[in-house]
Amino acid sequence: MKVKLCSGALGAEIEGIDLRTINSDNFKLINDLLLEHKVIFFREQNMSPEEQINLAKLFGPVEEHAYVKGLEGYPEITRLIKDAEEKNQWGEGWHSDVSYNETPTKAVILKSVKIPPVGGDTVFSNMELAWETLDKELKKIVENRRAEHFSLGAGFFIDSYKHFESNGNDAKEYSNHHPIVRTHPETGKKILFVNWTYTKKIEGLEEHESNEVLSKIFEHQSRLDLTCRYSWTEDNIAIWDNRCVIHYAIADFFPGRGLGYERVMDRIAVLGDRPY
Ligand SMILES: [Fe+2]
Repeated sequence: MKVKLCSGALGAEIEGIDLRTINSDNFKLINDLLLEHKVIFFREQNMSPEEQINLAKLFGPVEEHAYVKGLEGYPEITRLIKDAEEKNQWGEGWHSDVSYNETPTKAVILKSVKIPPVGGDTVFSNMELAWETLDKELKKIVENRRAEHFSLGAGFFIDSYKHFESNGNDAKEYSNHHPIVRTHPETGKKILFVNWTYTKKIEGLEEHESNEVLSKIFEHQSRLDLTCRYSWTEDNIAIWDNRCVIHYAIADFFPGRGLGYERVMDRIAVLGDRPY
């Protein structure tokens, strides 16, 4: 096995492992790599949907998306399709997946099915480092507070994208409050747990103050020295610890360069626990 670090902040590309050989006996190897690097990448993983689901289940129970219909025959898999002519794609903008749920997603196992020759990298940012490096005054303001995360309703996930369909659940928006600084249940580390897409309010602060503090935090979280950037090829698997990273799917599909190619990913999410 070879571990190639993606940046000085987080992320590692792992060579020499066929993820189809991972089972409950050797799962610790993968989990330790994930805890250490927060996002791990594997190239040339020719996994079937069943094999991808089995891998995900080693991390815990899998969850279906709040609003979006799963793949035919595999409701656990959300197939993310960006049409060749579409400029936009799912996951643009910094976020932690499903942070608006009471028990937000623990980890995501994402497989690249079809990848354009250029464009569509994903950037991850390390929220343990983001907390460590946050301005002292901001730390004092947010340390023991909670923030409200909003689901944004079905329209947010479906309306702007050609290939996404509702799963028929109640389409309304809902929200949940989580500590702004959460503790990682496996490493015990402090993590800055807010994100630009879903976190809209800090509990107990006036609206203008809440907005001001959040915008400073969002700017800090996106500092490039906290990030790593991954360029996909087909049949890659990325696994990220959604409790301690935020990520951003770059939609650099511009006419004349990145536009005109389909991009397809299969996403499986593992249920997390209640942040504390
Ligand atoms: Fe995402």
